[in-house]
Amino acid sequence: MSGRVQPSDQIQITKNARQINVVLRSPEPAAALAADPESLFHGKPLSHQGHFGEIMKDLDRMVGLDHVKELVFEIYALLRIAGLRAEVGLTAGHQVYHMVFKGNPGTGKTSVARIVAKLFQTMGVLTKGHLIEVERADLVGEYIGHTALKTRELVKKAIGGILFIDEAYSLARGGEKDFGKEAIDTLVKAMEDHKNQFILILAGYSDEMDQFLQTNPGLPSRFPIQLDFPDYTVDQLMQIAELMVKEREYTLGPTTELKIRQQIMNEKNQLEIAFSNARFVRNLIEKAMRNHAVRLLSMNGVQPSRQDLMMIRPEDVKLDRKPAKETPRYI
Ligand SMILES: Nc1ncnc2c1ncn2[C@@H]1O[C@H](COP(=O)(O)OP(=O)(O)OP(=O)(O)O)[C@@H](O)[C@H]1O
Ligand SMILES: [Mg+2]
Repeated sequence: MSGRVQPSDQIQITKNARQINVVLRSPEPAAALAADPESLFHGKPLSHQGHFGEIMKDLDRMVGLDHVKELVFEIYALLRIAGLRAEVGLTAGHQVYHMVFKGNPGTGKTSVARIVAKLFQTMGVLTKGHLIEVERADLVGEYIGHTALKTRELVKKAIGGILFIDEAYSLARGGEKDFGKEAIDTLVKAMEDHKNQFILILAGYSDEMDQFLQTNPGLPSRFPIQLDFPDYTVDQLMQIAELMVKEREYTLGPTTELKIRQQIMNEKNQLEIAFSNARFVRNLIEKAMRNHAVRLLSMNGVQPSRQDLMMIRPEDVKLDRKPAKETPRYI
């Protein structure tokens, strides 16, 4: 990871307390461009800049997650200043970017990890910017030595990108004799051997991740960035629903919105199953789209209008009581 970012001549990022704004600007005057010898040297904008703006917009579009957006801005600022420092002969230094994402299901952890991977690639921190998402079963083997082999294999695949381990706390579940420990040891070694070549993100429920980090005194300092992904409020979940509907080119009337809000509140109040936040909303919207399609096909040969094709009605919003693949909070 070179930690080098070239000053942009097209993108201006402004930050306020709640969001990061990416503003595309026209090319800057020559004096400002002089700070970036590479773009002057080649006489054209750096190829990653448009891409960078797109990625930042993807992040900005996500509802809430203000602290995640702020962290990304901090990293961006640091890398950009490191680039400027290097140009005047100052040491750029290296930062450790391994992270822990703590939060319940459907709070955006995987989505943010994907965006961070792309961002780091664009900023020159990672060479490839891909995300390899794994869980315990992918790392842990069945006999002595098998785990180290499997884990090393996955680290190899993640070089240049991010290795994202979901429910990472389960690696420490079985105690000293469990092969999970071998996976942790192998990962810690790989972090030294392949320093700055890949980023490790561990994800899982908050309490379990805190306990997990305490199992090995060397772990917390290896993951200097710890991000909380809190449960979304009902209002935020409604915003997510509206975003999903808009992206898919559907519309909701006020009564439908009310029904969706009701369904979200009911589900959030169910104690026996873990509430899956934005994933619940996505399932609800996708089921509503299927119900909408079936309703339109049952209109006895009447050709649906453009409005019909877009409008999800209250009767379309119904979810099977037990959505598939809901996992209990504690097993
Ligand atoms: N803040 C957000 N704004 C818009 N959509 C979101 C937001 N957070 C999550 N989503 C959407 O919700 C769905 C689930 O998100 P994601 O897979 O990132 O959650 P997760 O925290 O990784 O869940 P899990 O712990 O179960 O793996 C995705 O479709 C994602 O796009
Ligand atoms: Mg996930």
